[in-house]
Amino acid sequence: MDALVCLRERKTCRGFLPRPVPADVLNVILTDALWAPSASNQQPWHFHIIEGRALQHLVECVRQAHREERRGYDPSKGKTIPPQYVERTKQLFRGIRPFIAQLGDGNAAFIESGSFRFYDAPAVVLLTMHAHMPPVRYMDIGMAAQNLMLSAHARGLGTCAVALTLMYADAVKAALSLPDDILPALFIAVGYPDPVFPVNQFRSGRETLENCLTRHA
Ligand SMILES: Cc1cc2nc3c(=O)[nH]c(=O)nc-3n(C[C@H](O)[C@H](O)[C@H](O)COP(=O)(O)O)c2cc1C
Repeated sequence: MDALVCLRERKTCRGFLPRPVPADVLNVILTDALWAPSASNQQPWHFHIIEGRALQHLVECVRQAHREERRGYDPSKGKTIPPQYVERTKQLFRGIRPFIAQLGDGNAAFIESGSFRFYDAPAVVLLTMHAHMPPVRYMDIGMAAQNLMLSAHARGLGTCAVALTLMYADAVKAALSLPDDILPALFIAVGYPDPVFPVNQFRSGRETLENCLTRHA
């Protein structure tokens, strides 16, 4: 697939077919992720493939943590997010709501509950980083994540990056027996997109370039 077509076409998938992703296909998209650039070529990422019983166990642990703790997601860590970014989140939810409504009653919290179960994807990749790496190295993790998602799209797979579930990072670490010095950075749900799932018909918008650009000359 043409790289430029791929990056414009990719979009988040939130409904998957119950069809396993062959191990060799997962290996290929993870190998594509390895070719991401990183500062000083440190390649600070590590990938965990989570499937089958391990995935069921992870979802159960996250749900149990949520039942017990009912945490709210606060990516701002208490700081005030500038209003334009808050508005973009609102726009996203305004846009996706009619598609979620088609799922029927009881799905108002679809994004939260869906994220906790990785939208029933047959495979989930967790990207982790060592806790002693400086936080700026998350940039490198993001580059690998983007490679992974674009490669998956080019190969007919759908993906959803899932950070919401990391509000229960302790439960995630316990479920996967991750050592203390390993930081879960991002989940990516991977599978074959369900072409008729209502929420998959949604496509998010983008700000104009004009609103995201300052020219210095
Ligand atoms: C770092 C990151 C974390 C995300 N976390 C979640 C999540 O927890 N749940 C979810 O449904 N989508 C999540 N998304 C998907 C975004 O909502 C989505 O990328 C955004 O709305 C733009 O839509 P698009 O991917 O279809 O272009 C995440 C995306 C990124 C990049």
